Amino acid sequence: MLVVIKKDYEEVSREAARIVAGAVRSNSQIVLGLATGSTPLGLYKELIALHRAGDLDFSQATSFNLDEYLGLPAFHPQSFHFFMKQNFFSHVNFPSGNVHIPDGTISRNYDEYCAQYEQSIKAHGGIDLQILGIGRNGHVGFNEPTSSLASRTRLKALSRETVEDNRHSFSNDSEVPKCAITMGIGTILDSRRVLLLASGRSKAAAVAKAIEGIIDEDAAYSLTQRDYYRHVLEMTQIFTPERLS
Ligand code: PGA
Repeated sequence: MLVVIKKDYEEVSREAARIVAGAVRSNSQIVLGLATGSTPLGLYKELIALHRAGDLDFSQATSFNLDEYLGLPAFHPQSFHFFMKQNFFSHVNFPSGNVHIPDGTISRNYDEYCAQYEQSIKAHGGIDLQILGIGRNGHVGFNEPTSSLASRTRLKALSRETVEDNRHSFSNDSEVPKCAITMGIGTILDSRRVLLLASGRSKAAAVAKAIEGIIDEDAAYSLTQRDYYRHVLEMTQIFTPERLS
C-alpha cells in the first residue's frame, strides 16, 4: 500500500483524478468501482472537467457502484443512483447500459439479487480500479465495523453512527434508511487496485487505523509515520513511478 498525503481536499481530488484519468486512458474498457459521499465529489468534478476539455473518454468504460440504500428508488434525491447521475454520469459520456448500481427497491430475494451483482462484476472481468471513501467509524462502502474480510455483496444493517450521520439529509425521520445493499470487503479486495480517499479531521481516527490511500493533512493528523510515508512516496516516484500513474 502507498500512502499519499496532500495538503487539502482540492489536492487530494486532483491527485485522485490524475490517477483515475491515467487508468481510463491506458485501458478504455476499464471497469471502475465507484463510490458516493462528499469525499469523491471533488474527484468527479475534476474528471468531468477533463472530459469537457476533450481529454477523457468513458465511452467504453463500465462501472459498479459500491452500495445503495435499501428502500430508496433511483429518483429519490438521497439515493446513490441520484447522486451518481447528478454528480457524474449526466456530465460525461458513460454509456448508461454500462452503469451498475445496486437496486434499493428490491423487497425480497436479497441474497439472490446480491449474488447476481457479484456475478455481473465477475462477468465483466472484475473491477480494475475501485474508488473508496471511508466513514468516521471506518466503514468502506456500507461494510460497518465487524464486517468480515471475506464478505460479499449483501444486505447490511447500518450502524447507529451511520444512521445518525445520514439523518440530517432526510426531512422525515421515518425515511432515514436503516439498511443498505453493499459490496463486501471481499468484493472490494478482489479489485486489482483500490484508491481510498479521505479528507478532514473527522476522518483522522479512521485513517489512523486504515492507513491507506490519498488523504489530506487533516485526515493524516493521527498517523504516527507520516515522514516514512513521505519517504516511501519519494522513493516510489524515483523507482516505480508507474504505481502512481
Ligand atoms: P463522506 O462519506 O465521503 O460523505 O465523508 C464517506 C463514507 O461514509 O464512506
